[in-house]
Order: sequence, then C-alpha cells, then structure tokens
Amino acid sequence: MSKEKVQIFDTTLRDGEQVPGCKLNTKQKLVIAERLDELGVDVIEAGFPISSPGDFTSVVEIAKIVKNATVCGLTRAVKKDIEVAAEALKFAKRPRIHTGIGTSDSHITHKFKATREEIIERAVSAVAYARTFVDDVEFYAEDAGRTDNEFLAQVCEAVVAAGATVLNIPDTTGYCLPEEYGAKIKYLRDNVKGIEKATLSCHCHNDLGLATANSIAGVINGARQIECTINGIGERAGNTSLEEVVMILRQHPTLDLDTNINSRLLYSTSRMVSESMGMPVQPNKAIVGANAFAHSSGIHQDGVIKNRETYEIIDPADVGVTESAIVLTARSGRAALAYRAKKVGYELTKLQLDVVYQEFLKFADRKKEVIDQDIHEIMHVCKITEARAV
Ligand code: KIV
Ligand code: ZN
Repeated sequence: MSKEKVQIFDTTLRDGEQVPGCKLNTKQKLVIAERLDELGVDVIEAGFPISSPGDFTSVVEIAKIVKNATVCGLTRAVKKDIEVAAEALKFAKRPRIHTGIGTSDSHITHKFKATREEIIERAVSAVAYARTFVDDVEFYAEDAGRTDNEFLAQVCEAVVAAGATVLNIPDTTGYCLPEEYGAKIKYLRDNVKGIEKATLSCHCHNDLGLATANSIAGVINGARQIECTINGIGERAGNTSLEEVVMILRQHPTLDLDTNINSRLLYSTSRMVSESMGMPVQPNKAIVGANAFAHSSGIHQDGVIKNRETYEIIDPADVGVTESAIVLTARSGRAALAYRAKKVGYELTKLQLDVVYQEFLKFADRKKEVIDQDIHEIMHVCKITEARAV
C-alpha cells in the first residue's frame, strides 16, 4: 500500500534568503527555483513580494517558469501586501498566498498593541481578502510555538471558516520541545471545528537545535506539510532542513509517510544553494555534509569495507553522493590502508602491508589526513615501485 504523502514546502528563497549575506539576485533565484521544481518540492515560497521591487520581480519570474510546484508569496495580514502578492503570482499555474499574524501574547501585546479579539478579526479579514484573489490561502499564526493552545485553536477555527486551506503553526523562536510541538498539532486536530478542510503545516526554527525533531513530531501527530530549507538555512539558527526530514521519513518505513522528493538530487542541490548563497555547509551536517559518509577510525573503516551497512544507515547513492569515503588518519587501521592503496594501484601482500603500515603511521602522525599522493610517497619510501605490487 502506498504511504501517505507529506507535502514539502520549501522556503529557501524566502526564510532562507533572509539570512544576512545570503541575498540572491533574480537570475540566481530562478536557477534555484527550477532545481527545487525538479527535486519534487510541492510548494516553493518564492519571496515576500511587497518587501522590495527586486523580490516582487523574482516572484513574478519564478511564477512564470515553475512547472509543477505551487508558487507561494508571503504577506502580512495587510490588504496592500495581499494585493501585491496576488499581482506577483498572476502567472503561476498554482498560486498560493501565505498570510498571517502573530498570535502569542508577546506578539499581541508588544508588536500589535492589540487584543486577542482584534487579532482574530485581522486574521479573518486577511484570509477572506486573499481568497478573493486565489483559491489556495495559507494562514500562519506567527509564534504559534509560544501561543496558548486554546487561543490558537480559536484563531485556526476562525481562519478555516474564512477559507484558509493550510494552517501554518510556526515555532518562530525555536522554543518548543518535540513532545510539546507534537501535542500542539494534536490539540488543533482534536479541537478545531472544520480542521478536515485544511492541511496542518509545521514551520520550525532551530534555535535549540530541535527544528527537525519538532517537524517530525508534527507529522507524527497529523500535520501533512513541512516547511523547510535546503541545508537548513534561515533566520538565526535556521529552519528545518529539507534533506533531513525527507530522509528521516524515507529511512523509517514504520512512520508510513513519504514525500515526492527525488532524494538523488539532494546532495547536488545542497551544493548549488551553498555556492550560490556563499554559505558553506558544515562538514558534519547530516545527509549533505562532507563527512556525512566519511569514515576515519580503524574500527569503523574495517566494518564499512566488509559491509557498508555496519556503520551507514543510508546508501550514499540514495542522496546523490557517489560513494562512502575511507579517510586515512592516524586512527586508521591496516584494512583501510590496504583498501585505499588498492584504489591507487597497489595490491599489497600481508608482508608488504605490515611494512607499509609502519611507514604510514609515521606519516599520519605528522599530517591531519593522508591523501592519495602521500600513499605514493609512502610506497616510494618502502621501495614498492610497481603499480601493481604483489
Ligand atoms: O517563522 C515564522 O513564523 C515565519 C512566518 C512568517 C511564516 O517565517
Ligand atoms: Zn520562519
């Protein structure tokens, strides 16, 4: 039986691009949007059209070229924002307006200096107005993570009645614990009248390193859309990382959930976004980091050489990485050295390996990593000159 689908809403070009130094021009955004469409994301949040003329143009151009995904534009719960977003999305095959307002007491008191009743009124008017332009309107309750569940349910019920098709429950400040966030989603599912007419969406920030865990808790409790970015980029500590949630769902069949993502494009997409934004990916980043499939300790290398699955839960090919890397360091053993020596042309006897290994250790103590060129030098020192020594 086919698994239930979780929609992937990519916000690399909106929340991701808000990161200082990550600004892209329209041409760069178009290249990324085309790749996201090919990757199989369901929704591309192309920008915040009223925020600048450049962002408006980018949303217009992205809307023209995207073939499969829904193209979405962000707005505040403000008429003019909604009109500008509708104009920017007019060429989209599947347009979505993403409108919303802060719902936590902190936002209501400090940002809006309003009452809860006024917030509900503004939310309802924004959704109803957006529905006069498009059929697909997503509502975000900003800072939902710190919003009292009972009030959040009231807001959600009111905006669903006004025509919202998707309910975004952002943990804007990355505050929630996974159990708490999951319980919030479940509470809304159980207490919002008309909830079956809308899709619940997770939008989690990573301030405490819990964005991915919270999004997964959300879908386990009934959300069916995850908002995320390539490489987890985004405001402050970032957003939920697209590659992580996609692979978690794929590697855990018991969750009975999947996405439409072509995971084989994950690695190249990560590199493309990183290069285009000038934002390096940390080497130990899950799924797409340079070390995600690299093994350097002797015990692990011996296991991986015998059978990859001893220390790898994902086949690197499934995310577009050509092969696992056996990195030679002072912690590496004979198995790893023999494996790498063979790759560069030396098939060593047991006796030769004993000699070469001693020389290798001296090299490795001096260097952080022993590379192919060093292997040739070690062979030279050990007087193993034939390319296929036996
Ligand atoms: O984090 C957040 O609350 C947001 C909303 C604007 C959706 O990015
Ligand atoms: Zn956000």
